Amino acid sequence: MTILQQYLEANRQVEKEYAGIELEVTEGEVPASLYGTFFRNGPGRLEHQGVLYRHLFDGDGMISAFAFENGRIRYRNRYVRTREFTEEEEAGRMLYRSFGTNIPGGFRRNFMKMRFKNAANTNIIYHGGKLLALWEGGWPHEIDPVTLETVQRYDYNGVLRNEGAVGRIIQPELPFAAHPRLHPDTGVLHNFGTAPGARQELLLYQVAPDGQARISRRIPMDKLYFTHDYVLTAEGQHIFFLIPVAFELWKALLGLQPPVETLQQQPDQPIRILVIDEEDITEYETEYCFIFHFANGYRRADGAFIVDAFTMPDFPLSFNLHKGLAGETVGGAAGALTRFTLEPGKKLARRESLSPYPAEFPAYNPRLTGKPYRYAWGIGDHPENGRALLHGIVKFGLEQRQTLLKDYYPRLTGEPVFVPRPGAEGEDEGWLLFLTFDPEESETDLRILNAPDLEEVAVARLPHNVPLVFHGSWVGEVFG
Ligand SMILES: [Fe+2]
Repeated sequence: MTILQQYLEANRQVEKEYAGIELEVTEGEVPASLYGTFFRNGPGRLEHQGVLYRHLFDGDGMISAFAFENGRIRYRNRYVRTREFTEEEEAGRMLYRSFGTNIPGGFRRNFMKMRFKNAANTNIIYHGGKLLALWEGGWPHEIDPVTLETVQRYDYNGVLRNEGAVGRIIQPELPFAAHPRLHPDTGVLHNFGTAPGARQELLLYQVAPDGQARISRRIPMDKLYFTHDYVLTAEGQHIFFLIPVAFELWKALLGLQPPVETLQQQPDQPIRILVIDEEDITEYETEYCFIFHFANGYRRADGAFIVDAFTMPDFPLSFNLHKGLAGETVGGAAGALTRFTLEPGKKLARRESLSPYPAEFPAYNPRLTGKPYRYAWGIGDHPENGRALLHGIVKFGLEQRQTLLKDYYPRLTGEPVFVPRPGAEGEDEGWLLFLTFDPEESETDLRILNAPDLEEVAVARLPHNVPLVFHGSWVGEVFG
């Protein structure tokens, strides 16, 4: 099986929606103290009405929920019924453009079509009493945590409506990024959105624990950058890495190309790093690289900022499915865990490698968001294996610069989510929950690892394959 075949097989179309079936535990025992729900989101299908999406980011969002109670696991899955999903189902054909896919039929059918499909496929969070499926280009979708039915497109009581004279035409729905950060002490959810308009802006949002949202800052930008994730410190600074990757918006708007294909990289330019404080913005810079995800970051006692990110040499082409099908290699989307130190008075960030292991999809103890921390986890592999895809789970000891690997080859691994052990003091005391896909058996398993030593605790078999890509979260509640 070629790498591309494995990859497509691991992300093949989910046909069936299950409603609360008990999973068979095939190995080990599920700890009785593991109580709560593991939610995941990702593209449940990469083709629609016979048309293959050209990009991995376009697949329709499907939520899966694993409820843990008394050592048992109940499973449920359901597609997000976005407005566009429902209309296309009824029409029996593709009606909307996506981030990486135009409507079949060329320029004429895509010209000035500015309403893109909200894929609702990137992350899922529970905050302010609402379960929300997130997609960084538009509004969240509220999901019923018991049935996983789509309740409504959610604009935080109008906060996400674009009222700008130009903006309301170009993009009436303000985007709410897929990587919010929850402040561990205040319970306030912080997030951002990058909005086009007469004046392009970076918006900062704050959502109080009761769900009341507001735009806390509007920062004018010289252009729109590709910003997927950011870092929040415990003191409230927001740290953004503005990577010199920009979209040629006019080409996308005219329908000549889907947005992702208008993406221009400028590797000869540095990354602008913004540290946004209550009062002012301090700017730093570092040499070009590409970053999707940050692990964590914090302010050191001496006033310097530490930011840990997975860096890649470039924007990965491996997510362009049509390129893979045309014979180009799929893979190379792994990052290198890199520490950036931003020191007062020095414009250039100090940069050092934290591990030689290729990895991505970071996890850490959420109690330490924005604070000094010692451990991170992710999907990863041994640097000497030279494999195109990642087949393991890694634990990074950030102080000793040690990396521990649990190798699942030939299985592929999905993002691990860290669940603290109830009452535990130690930072790494808890479990990792994640999915693996076995390309030889074509089976998907839910796995529980002991987070400190990566020893396996239990394995449960899924009744069908659930795509591994994208994000999930743990909620310490069982619904229904
Ligand atoms: Fe992400």
